[in-house]
Amino acid sequence: MILNSLVLKRYFEVFFLVFLLCCSCFLVLNNVLNSSQLATFKREEAAKVSKNFTNNISQRLKVLLGCQDRPLIFEKRQYGNYWLLKNFIRGRLSEKIGCSEAITYCTNGDYTFFDNLPEVVKRWFAPVSFAIFAPGYDFKIAMDSIQYVRNCLKESQLIQKYVTFHIYFPSRHMPDYLPITEEEIDNWPYDCQSSVKPYENSTRADMYKTKNKLLYPINVGRNIAREAANTHFVFVCDIELFPSKNLIKQFFRMLLHNKALIPSRGNGEEEEEYRVFPVPVFEVAKTSSVPENKAELLKMLKVDLAIPFHKFTCKNCHMVPGYGKWLNRTNVNTMEIIAVSKREGKFASWEPFYISDNREPMFDERVTWEGQSNKRIQNYAMCLLGFKYHVLHPAFLVHTPGIKRVNLKDPRLKYVAPTNALIRKKIIPEYHILYGKNTNCRV
Ligand SMILES: *[C@@H]1O[C@H](CO)[C@@H](O)[C@H](O)[C@H]1NC(C)=O
Ligand SMILES: *[C@@H]1O[C@H](CO)[C@@H](O)[C@H](O)[C@H]1NC(C)=O
Ligand SMILES: *[C@@H]1O[C@H](CO)[C@@H](O)[C@H](O)[C@H]1NC(C)=O
Ligand SMILES: *[C@@H]1O[C@H](CO)[C@@H](O)[C@H](O)[C@H]1NC(C)=O
Repeated sequence: MILNSLVLKRYFEVFFLVFLLCCSCFLVLNNVLNSSQLATFKREEAAKVSKNFTNNISQRLKVLLGCQDRPLIFEKRQYGNYWLLKNFIRGRLSEKIGCSEAITYCTNGDYTFFDNLPEVVKRWFAPVSFAIFAPGYDFKIAMDSIQYVRNCLKESQLIQKYVTFHIYFPSRHMPDYLPITEEEIDNWPYDCQSSVKPYENSTRADMYKTKNKLLYPINVGRNIAREAANTHFVFVCDIELFPSKNLIKQFFRMLLHNKALIPSRGNGEEEEEYRVFPVPVFEVAKTSSVPENKAELLKMLKVDLAIPFHKFTCKNCHMVPGYGKWLNRTNVNTMEIIAVSKREGKFASWEPFYISDNREPMFDERVTWEGQSNKRIQNYAMCLLGFKYHVLHPAFLVHTPGIKRVNLKDPRLKYVAPTNALIRKKIIPEYHILYGKNTNCRV
């Protein structure tokens, strides 16, 4: 009996110890679990808040702009004498971007311009709408080039995210073969190991376009890129122009801070107001790198490693109103309007690059790259309409490579006189009927 109770007592002690052990284990585990949950929770909260912060900017802007989101949709369609593959290959992020979440950099070119694309995308970090002219067998090389930049570069992820490619060609200069399904597009072969990039594998003289003496319809490309954009604001640029960093964020902050800057759409109560936001353009010596920010740019300007764009060929084409003030401004973190001007007087020959809400007149498609005046004719129409140019600081564009000088042997020169005649005899009289006359305006 005594023995029995002793055994029981032992059992009880053992049980008690095991029980204690379990309890402490539970407490410790519970604590560990709790704190890790807390950490995860805190991280999620922080992410939400920062996500909400950007959402908030674009949400408030969306209400102010009254813009609509729309997806990018692939279409094959006729466009004048061209076939257009609109949104042929879409940027994964651009495809669903909200209308007030970014500005679309709209550009154009043929495949020989692809070497500029990585740098543009790295600096812009937002949707790019890229219209490519690719008649005949240039189409195949353009496709090879698209696959190459989307898959073989260190910037390929960015390019896949942001760049939307449109391809167009005259119906009289069809490619032999087009990939028809999405699968065929995706499976278009590429070779990242190749010693030469497809877009650097031939000279201009070898191109279908050159062999068939086709002129480059730059304004068709510009319009295609513009019309395809799904953001409220666009920035129509040439692909050799590199934007300064953080431009979009600063621009949106400026608009939210000063809502009166948002172009009025003339909805009955207010009068419609025509307004665009140009930035100054510079060019840098062939051997210099492209300045990352204004401080670097200013240093380069001091020693002539950078100069205002086309200083030696057409000084007044790119001189912006308020240039002296622009150079003087030291606060580079906040965007502001440095000057407001019409394209008149000293600025009557200006060929500005600007951010706009895409409501300015389209580019006249009768004017080619070779014939020049392709931007000036649009700004002439804008002058007749009374557009006001609000010059932005500290945003800028840099042209590379090299500094342009007058070249009297430029083969394009023979197209200039006929283009000027077309503008004088046909286009200007049409514009006067459409937009009215103003003797202060010049092409
Ligand atoms: C963002 O903020 C709003 C209001 O402050 C809130 O109602 C909403 O739930 C937040 N969204 C997220 C994803 O946290
Ligand atoms: C957005 O931000 C503003 C100012 O920072 C704030 O007043 C407003 O409540 C925010 N709205 C939402 C939906 O978070
Ligand atoms: C370069 O051009 C040659 C001759 O046209 C062609 O055979 C070759 O496949 C091309 N290489 C690339 C990478 O496009
Ligand atoms: C730029 O700053 C200098 C020195 O402060 C001043 O003399 C000059 O008038 C300023 N120029 C403009 C255009 O503001």
